[in-house]
Amino acid sequence: MSSHSGVAEKATLSFVVLAAAGVVVSAAYGHGAHNSGQTMRATPEEQAAFANAKPAFERHCFRCHTTAGKKSKRKALDHIAMDRYPFRGHHAAEAGATIRKVLGADGKSKPTMPSDDKGAVAGDDLSKILAWADAFDRAHPPKPANTTKEKSHAH
Ligand code: HEC
Repeated sequence: MSSHSGVAEKATLSFVVLAAAGVVVSAAYGHGAHNSGQTMRATPEEQAAFANAKPAFERHCFRCHTTAGKKSKRKALDHIAMDRYPFRGHHAAEAGATIRKVLGADGKSKPTMPSDDKGAVAGDDLSKILAWADAFDRAHPPKPANTTKEKSHAH
């Protein structure tokens, strides 16, 4: 009788320990992913789409969003830093959706980037960047909250 309750106690204890460890791990992961994008891994499909879109990013965005850019701005880099791929900055984790939005390609927003030449990204450059954004979303599916909004996605 007493040995039986001892086993139950032990089982309960190890469950508590495991549950506590699980909370710590998911909190740490969520924080890191949002903050820096350092835990993001680019898939081969995403890398290929980025290689294709890179000249367009270079033409329209790098002058402000890279450290060495002619108009490099701290504020721009904080949002999205394009020095390396995957991008860094606090929008890195949802880069696909954010960039679609600032280019006015989400079906509801006006273009706000490039901030010195709004709407300049068009034609081939635009399709390549949007193809990259789609590949990014496939590699890093948006959170459920964003997915619901996607329903109103207009083409
Ligand atoms: C002339 C400089 C400049 C150029 C060129 C530029 N940006 Fe920006 N960008 C900024 C600045 C400055 C901010 C920060 C704006 C703020 O804090 O209000 C910013 C912010 C952003 C943000 C976050 C803003 C948001 O609404 O969430 C994104 C995403 C972005 N830029 C993408 C791009 C892309 C993509 C391109 C190229 C197509 C581009 N930018 C070109 C200066 C620039």
